[in-house]
Amino acid sequence: MRRLCDETDARRLLNPGPVAIVTTAWRGITNAAPVAWTAPLSMEPPLVGCVIHPHRHTSDMIRFSQEFAINIPGPSLLKQTAFLGSQSGLNTNKLEAAGLSLFNGIRIEAPLIEGCLAWIECGLQDVIRMGDHTLFVGRVVSVQALDEAYAQQWLLQERRYSPLTYIGGTRYAVVGDAMEAAVEVDAQGGLIAETVEEREQREEEEAREQEVRKAEGEEGFAEMTRQ
Ligand SMILES: Cc1cc2nc3c(=O)[nH]c(=O)nc-3n(C[C@H](O)[C@H](O)[C@H](O)COP(=O)(O)O)c2cc1C
Repeated sequence: MRRLCDETDARRLLNPGPVAIVTTAWRGITNAAPVAWTAPLSMEPPLVGCVIHPHRHTSDMIRFSQEFAINIPGPSLLKQTAFLGSQSGLNTNKLEAAGLSLFNGIRIEAPLIEGCLAWIECGLQDVIRMGDHTLFVGRVVSVQALDEAYAQQWLLQERRYSPLTYIGGTRYAVVGDAMEAAVEVDAQGGLIAETVEEREQREEEEAREQEVRKAEGEEGFAEMTRQ
């Protein structure tokens, strides 16, 4: 059944991109905050965007320092990510309180977080007010990634090397289960949504499931799929 949602649900429905931990530094002070609203904006020049509420300390830190880094965590930094998003860094050194180890960036002052999967260093290119948030446009000046996690694309071969994504509230997920999309069209140019092989595979899987259901009884099957 289709359900009418609130207009504000649009933000949550668009959520699952990698969550970014935005690190900043200014006059010897550092800060970090998770930011789910990020987007690639341009290839040439390479630009990325972070959408941040003006009340966040991170917003001031970016304005003052004119730069920021995006650190992309995997599941091992789940709690640290949530912690960094639970309070302002205005009066606390959150990076220290979270027990995170840092290393120097290549091009900017903002520290990079050890244990993440990838790091994007940016100079501030533009600041655009968007409703109640601000779009900080970053000119990418350096990018690093772990070999185990990324090779021109996220590899998603191992859970611990797959990026964390934010669902909303206290819920996160790990990006996984990569699928290959082979697009084929019929003589009329219409999409072949299921090839003969895919249909056979699906039917086989359904038949197998049916057999298990019969053997276990409906209750046993429900119990099994819950586990
Ligand atoms: C997973 C997660 C994603 C978040 N995404 C955003 C975001 O996209 N933009 C934003 O302004 N705040 C976002 N927040 C809230 C800030 O991270 C939070 O207010 C943080 O405490 C700000 O810290 P600061 O004041 O030190 O910058 C997010 C919080 C969490 C936990």
